[in-house]
Amino acid sequence: MRQKIVAGNWKMNKTFEEANILASEVMGMVADEVKGNVKVIFCTPFPYLHPIKNLLGSNSRISVGAQNCSEHESGAYTGETSAVMLKSMNIPYVIVGHSERRQYFGEDGKLLAKKVDIALKNGLTPIFCCGEPLDVREKNGHEALVKKQVEESLFHLEAAQLEKVVIAYEPVWAIGTGKTATSQQAQEMHAVIRKHLAGKYGANVADNISILYGGSVNAANAKELFACPDVDGGLVGGASLKSREFTEIIKSI
Ligand code: 13P
Repeated sequence: MRQKIVAGNWKMNKTFEEANILASEVMGMVADEVKGNVKVIFCTPFPYLHPIKNLLGSNSRISVGAQNCSEHESGAYTGETSAVMLKSMNIPYVIVGHSERRQYFGEDGKLLAKKVDIALKNGLTPIFCCGEPLDVREKNGHEALVKKQVEESLFHLEAAQLEKVVIAYEPVWAIGTGKTATSQQAQEMHAVIRKHLAGKYGANVADNISILYGGSVNAANAKELFACPDVDGGLVGGASLKSREFTEIIKSI
């Protein structure tokens, strides 16, 4: 059975004190209410990873994840954080290829393939993001583009490696805009991604990959999105910064 995941991508938000309050509140609310098969992840800014991980303690339902890692192992790369470092702190997840990194930091498919590789090599689970901008969707090019993004950064992997990857479909036009993809649009795209994976790796492998939806997920729309057969959870931005709302989203799965 595919792992259900609700991940909060905090992006570059919250002071340290606010981050602690958010994590504590969600932890408290989630404790009794979340189904056993759901994994919750806080993708925090780098400086908060270790303290928030400590705060979570032995809580097995909530993990932490980084929002990025370097494509290099170590060396003179001022300001960067490596997968080796994350591994050394027992951080289990890392987001790779978020559209904001593609857009503002010029990350392309080839670079992201290297980041996926280095994350896997260090035992981290990459949450690999893909998704089309609005102009591409309007020209009906979304399926082709997302398939290409998946091919460029994941298709060099062996099946056993791919099985360790989580994919997040995040249409760029739905991120931070309040304009969510309809459940039909999300399901269609997730099915396209899964079929594409099945074409290369076989249906058994594709059936085991968790594919998350991201883009203006909130407490009001989560249930419908998560009910889609190929939607295995969400990667949540803005709504993950509010403890009550994020908990509602977690409960919607
Ligand atoms: P929003 O939920 O704020 O639209 O952000 C989605 C996102 O980018 C998660 O990675």
